[in-house]
Amino acid sequence: MALARTALHGIIFLATFTIFACLNDLRPTAGAADVTVHVEGENVVLDNGIVQLTLSKPEGSITGVQYHGVDNVMEVIEKEDHRGYWDLVWNPSDRDSGIYQKVYGTEFEVVQRDANHVEVSFRTQWDPSHRGKLVPLNIDRRFVMLRGSSGFYTYAIYEHLQGLPDVNLGETRVVFKLRKDKFHYMAIADNRQRIMPMPDDRGEGRSEKLAYPEAVRLTDPINAALRGEVDDKYQYSSDNKDSMVHGWISSDPSVGFWVITPSIEFKSGGPVKQDLTSHVGPTALAMFVSSHYSGVDTVPKFRNGEYWKKVFGPVFIYLNSAPDKSDPKLLWGDAKKQVEVEKWPYEFPASEDFHKSEKRGSVSGRLRVLDKNISKEYINGNAAFVGLASPGEAGSWQRESKGYQFWVRADVEGNFFIKNVRTGVYNLYAWVPGFIGDYKSSVNITVTSGNHIDLGNLVYNPPRDGPTLWEIGIPDRSAAEFFVPDPDPKYINRLYVDHSDRFRQYGLWERYADLYPDGDLIYTIGVSNYRKDWFYAQVTRKDGQGSYQATTWQIRFRLGSVRRNGPYKLRVALAASQLSELQVRFNNPRVQPAHFTTGLIGRENSIARHGIHGLYWLFSIDVESSWLLGGDNIIFLTQTRGQSPFNGVMYDYIRMEAPAGTVASTDDVA
Ligand SMILES: *[C@@H]1O[C@H](CO)[C@@H](O)[C@H](O)[C@H]1NC(C)=O
Ligand SMILES: *[C@@H]1O[C@H](CO)[C@@H](O)[C@H](O)[C@H]1NC(C)=O
Repeated sequence: MALARTALHGIIFLATFTIFACLNDLRPTAGAADVTVHVEGENVVLDNGIVQLTLSKPEGSITGVQYHGVDNVMEVIEKEDHRGYWDLVWNPSDRDSGIYQKVYGTEFEVVQRDANHVEVSFRTQWDPSHRGKLVPLNIDRRFVMLRGSSGFYTYAIYEHLQGLPDVNLGETRVVFKLRKDKFHYMAIADNRQRIMPMPDDRGEGRSEKLAYPEAVRLTDPINAALRGEVDDKYQYSSDNKDSMVHGWISSDPSVGFWVITPSIEFKSGGPVKQDLTSHVGPTALAMFVSSHYSGVDTVPKFRNGEYWKKVFGPVFIYLNSAPDKSDPKLLWGDAKKQVEVEKWPYEFPASEDFHKSEKRGSVSGRLRVLDKNISKEYINGNAAFVGLASPGEAGSWQRESKGYQFWVRADVEGNFFIKNVRTGVYNLYAWVPGFIGDYKSSVNITVTSGNHIDLGNLVYNPPRDGPTLWEIGIPDRSAAEFFVPDPDPKYINRLYVDHSDRFRQYGLWERYADLYPDGDLIYTIGVSNYRKDWFYAQVTRKDGQGSYQATTWQIRFRLGSVRRNGPYKLRVALAASQLSELQVRFNNPRVQPAHFTTGLIGRENSIARHGIHGLYWLFSIDVESSWLLGGDNIIFLTQTRGQSPFNGVMYDYIRMEAPAGTVASTDDVA
């Protein structure tokens, strides 16, 4: 029975798509076995005839996952509390460094038990004897198994009770460590999958350490075909919006293990926040909170006894199987087809803190752009990112982590419909690819159960004073359109050769000095091409003594004549910043103070982590007419911080505008 059902869940579905679709409809059917839960000593076993999940009591560690004849897909050579677990990093205040903690339950309870649904809870309550030792949160982790489902769910409710000590929650996630003797093939996207190194390959004697501990060069890997490649978990990061499915495949037997994230409503930082997915271990993660690619700004901080509660998940852990030695693409394809997104919000969670669809509301509208320089007409907010998040400044959602966020992409006409929004007070935020800046609705939006709010026509006026004199790049919050060099042949990850994500190669920052040995980058408007002549990041330069020097880039352009009715406007949009200060000067590289400075900004580490973007920063600089010259002009862009190879900024887009109220003429750009 169990085996037949397992086979149905595998690849046979794929071969006959109609059967697949039809079986999906029938899923929790009478044919499937009842779900059972057994508490045996220190083990809690959930079983539905397809998957058997073993958890430790009362800690709630995932010690065993039995599936398709494999006794345990979790790493059996690891200790029981180090196979599958929720963990976190916290600190009592901004001054303290992070404390790592696995989340262990102290109370166990079966919260639901019937033939279709078993849900178990592992709770931990903070008390004053934990002060300084355990994170001051109450945490209730849940595991759920449903009838006929080839996997299980996990979610957790985190609560900072009123009066609990101050705390920063730097990171929280679920970790799955799989058997290294079985799982060798990793898949995180259609074009991002490969045979991975073994964890042993990262150790002494088999690899050399690179610029930081996460990156190694494989010198003597167990699989000799991988010799010379770089391994670094950050090469496998994805935007929240792109990491709905990722995981690992065993070839003998053909079994897939997948982390499926059906919604990003509980993730911090919105749709373009990046985070880790799967990496050598074999490890698969469900990340909920982190400072990766964003810095401490996206870390929730609780002060003065603030009350907070949030539900992370559920995420679905899906297992599938195929005839032995199948093409791993089949299991990937099947995992991708799991329609968890359509089942969101789930009906099954027993916790009332997880709001079911009938408790939620919806918001719709149409967003158009008015950028009078480009058109006197409204422009459709084509494919705009539109989202609801806690009230704040325009763009504040990218640093927001305490609440829930609900994001959709608008259609070509700018229409959007955001369904299944939890009740609460929100602002509507948006950004439109092709335009700078952030939209925010002027009013608070109160979503109530079962209600729909139609916001009607909304207009975004992106920052604009005068007509464009020139521009560099595409306003899309990424530096991907700029020049991304080939890696040093010593530091290749073969996955990213001839790949759209070439920026994920290791060590590209060092190529800057190779390409510009004698002086920094000079970009000439009308002559240079940003795809070839604008390096993807303004990085530091390593000097002969092994220290790092600040760099100054130049933009050269001609003005027919200078209009005296200034100011002109320079728009500098950054796609990332790492401990950088960008100073801008016009025609005088030594003027003090600089005409403009960003001040010290950014702790996103997107250069070291191959991110191509971190947080979005937009600076609008008033340019006095007196700083400009008729004829040749030079803008000097100095990134002043030079402590390490990883200081620097990535540009998204730069634009020079003529003074407000002027109409561009051939006189402006000679
Ligand atoms: C906008 O700027 C461009 C580029 O300088 C110019 O050609 C155009 O006339 C401007 N359009 C309007 C409506 O101001
Ligand atoms: C919007 O809501 C926030 C948070 O609830 C509140 O601080 C703010 O004053 C509200 N703004 C308006 C315009 O009502």
